[in-house]
Amino acid sequence: MKCLNIAIGLSIFLISGCAFKNYGDEEFKLQIASHGKDVMWVPTKIEMTHEMFVMAKIRQDDLIYDLGSGDGVIPIEAAKKYGVQAVGIEYNPDLVALANRNAERAKVKNLVTFKEGDIFKEDFSQATVLTLYLGDSLNMKLKPQILKMKSGTRVLSNTFQMESWIPDEKTKISSGEMAYLWIVPEHIDGNWQFSNIPNIEKALIKIVQKKQFFEGAIYEKNLHKISFEIGRIRGDLVEFEYTDKSSKYIFRGKVLGSEIIGTLNNDPNLKVVGRRMPS
Ligand SMILES: C[S@@+](CC[C@H](N)C(=O)[O-])C[C@H]1O[C@@H](n2cnc3c(N)ncnc32)[C@H](O)[C@@H]1O
Repeated sequence: MKCLNIAIGLSIFLISGCAFKNYGDEEFKLQIASHGKDVMWVPTKIEMTHEMFVMAKIRQDDLIYDLGSGDGVIPIEAAKKYGVQAVGIEYNPDLVALANRNAERAKVKNLVTFKEGDIFKEDFSQATVLTLYLGDSLNMKLKPQILKMKSGTRVLSNTFQMESWIPDEKTKISSGEMAYLWIVPEHIDGNWQFSNIPNIEKALIKIVQKKQFFEGAIYEKNLHKISFEIGRIRGDLVEFEYTDKSSKYIFRGKVLGSEIIGTLNNDPNLKVVGRRMPS
């Protein structure tokens, strides 16, 4: 991990030639790649913060958490641009104090909070948007906890990915750095009883979920009828398609508690309701 982080510092040094520039303010000066607990300090570029906010489709009622918030650039930019509440968790008390002064200077002190703490101990489960600039291995360590967050939580990472969790979106900023977005999926793995599936009486749909993707099969009275592969979950939105007697059907719906409610082929006359079956 440390090697990876040295790589971040080095690449920024090569790109901008400013690794030895002083950052911070009169009270606390620091340089890029200053030591941090699990990862060193390197700030996210302003352009990257804006790109990540666009990908997250920030709304005013969002609550943003930046894990390892450094000088506070992400929470402060979010509060300035969207008037949203934002929280930063940072281990280094000098960076927490600097971020608070930066928020004061940006006149967003009423919207942002910087907490001194360890990202592996602090609670960030209330976040609707989570931002990360940490490294592949720290992202991986956080992944199980992130996957348990509320469905629909948007997770953004500057540069680093989450191995087997394929991003829902990615984009490149002008300096060549990548921004990644994941949307925490609802958990729909298991058996569902669906009503109103054309030509299938008492449809049982067995779903095997792999993060935001799933495959499944439709059974009629316990007899296997159709398998499908292309299932996708975006937060609480569910989509899958199947072919029956050479007719193609696309289901689009929403998870509402123990039900999935939607339509086939966007046809209001083909309203379909799935109910979770006890496991
Ligand atoms: C690469 S910097 C990113 C700073 C900021 N999020 C940004 O994008 O500009 C990583 C930050 O994580 C902090 N950090 C490292 N390990 C931490 C931990 N276990 N808990 C909280 N903060 C940590 C470092 O001090 C550093 O400020």
